[in-house]
Amino acid sequence: MTELVRLEVEGGVGTIRLDRPPMNALNAEIQHGLIAACREASERADVAAVVVWGGEKVFAAGADIKQMEAMSYTDMVDHSALLQDFTRALAGIPKPTVAAITGYALGGGCEVALACDWRVAADDATLGQPEVTLGIIPGAGGTQRLARLVGPAKAKDLVFSGRFVGAEEALAIGLVDRVVPAAEVYDTARELVARYAGGPSYALRAAKEAIDRGLEVDLESGLEIERMLFSGLFATKDRATGMKHFVEKGKGPAPFEGA
Ligand code: CAA
Repeated sequence: MTELVRLEVEGGVGTIRLDRPPMNALNAEIQHGLIAACREASERADVAAVVVWGGEKVFAAGADIKQMEAMSYTDMVDHSALLQDFTRALAGIPKPTVAAITGYALGGGCEVALACDWRVAADDATLGQPEVTLGIIPGAGGTQRLARLVGPAKAKDLVFSGRFVGAEEALAIGLVDRVVPAAEVYDTARELVARYAGGPSYALRAAKEAIDRGLEVDLESGLEIERMLFSGLFATKDRATGMKHFVEKGKGPAPFEGA
């Protein structure tokens, strides 16, 4: 366990708090901590949705450059799987997730945000993939998830140049979904996902899986993934509850149990 990453649960929402001042630089300890927090958030029945939050000042300014500086090629061959694993763990949480971005979300920090379902940014936030300015490329999923999110041309602009992007531009290119005053970032992000507490959690899980897996395959395979997940939901209690509620009482919300 590490003090650098905490999972705090309240009202059905789990907040994964990165806490390594001043910049939440992502060293190996925080990367392992993120994986553990993601696993716990995935497994706990009292967590319906997740906010990733770096505090009021900064989201995360990237992988720890001071830790990487002395690493050799073979060191990085060994370490690079971990770099991808912590964002993979986040992307794999089978529940709605949102990044609440204040200050900087750069390099690995931006990649953490990219691994969430949505991103809420402060109006003075700064995002970017500046790795090229260090002579490297994004290594925690950025080349892949950024291109999938904003398209290859805009991803290449950001990754080739390493330039920083303000919140308004990030909103315009689809890198973030909402821009609000800095003081409202956490609450806005929380509200965005808190609505899923008490929801049909297996349907939400299936919807996330169908969209995320479907985007990686051809249309016919994606439709088949959808068909199987759709049919599978007929084994859940919430499916029966939802339909019975509609037939007897009209449009929801139905009293789902997450079962
Ligand atoms: N790793 C290690 N330390 C970092 C860091 C990082 N990514 N980012 C900032 N810091 C440290 C600084 O070295 C400084 O430490 P000291 O006080 O010991 O000198 C402290 O945090 C404060 O930073 P600055 O003095 O630089 O603060 P600033 O306000 O002038 O600038 C900043 C802030 C624009 C974020 C600047 O620090 C910066 O550009 N940071 C690096 C951003 C970056 O290149 N990120 C990508 C990292 S590589 C990566 O992430 C690979 C991958 O894909 C996984």
